[in-house]
Amino acid sequence: MKFFIDTANLDQIREANDLGVLDGVTTNPSLMAKENIKGEANIKKHYVDICNIVKGDVSAEVISTDYEGMIREGKELAALHPQIVVKVPCIKDGIKAIKYFTDNGIRTNCTLVFSVGQALLAAKAGATYVSPFIGRLDDVSTDGVELIRQIVNVYNYYEYGTKVLAASIRHTMHIIQCLEAGADVATCPLSAILGLLNHPLTDIGLKKFLADYKKVNG
Ligand code: E4P
Repeated sequence: MKFFIDTANLDQIREANDLGVLDGVTTNPSLMAKENIKGEANIKKHYVDICNIVKGDVSAEVISTDYEGMIREGKELAALHPQIVVKVPCIKDGIKAIKYFTDNGIRTNCTLVFSVGQALLAAKAGATYVSPFIGRLDDVSTDGVELIRQIVNVYNYYEYGTKVLAASIRHTMHIIQCLEAGADVATCPLSAILGLLNHPLTDIGLKKFLADYKKVNG
């Protein structure tokens, strides 16, 4: 399973990248706003800055909700850098736009996906990635990880090429659950990635190894 970081914060992207296990980045308009990146030129520059830090796919989301607007924006975003993947919402014009991008060699991430039916349309339109939002489903008492499992099964059965990118991951256990459910990618906050390292027996064991070394070596 690939690891993407779900942030537009350059320091966090650098920190995750320095670990050597980062495969890409996802952003969305809320994450860009959180970093106070505003204005078309600054937003585009920020995407290029991210691409220059990480070797891997970087999702950049369109703001338009109509077909023509999505096509115009998507072309501009894709032209910024070869690593850019155009993120398109799973709405009617979005599916049409994904089909256009697929036919024109532009890679896409179909976002805001909450059902198998939406994932089916994304795959049929040829999306590179589909992003089911598991945390937001959990928030409304629906099992988000179960949706990942269902989409993975359907895609495998019908041999769709679209990769399942588990999004809206909130904590470390979500990552493990997505791994077990067969997700191709998990996009995670830095805290959830670093959480994978935590185990008290590792800390206790390391402390003892160092103490024993010191006893003999001074
Ligand atoms: C990433 O592609 C999504 O936009 C993101 O994971 C959404 O996460 P949230 O539900 O925590 O906002």
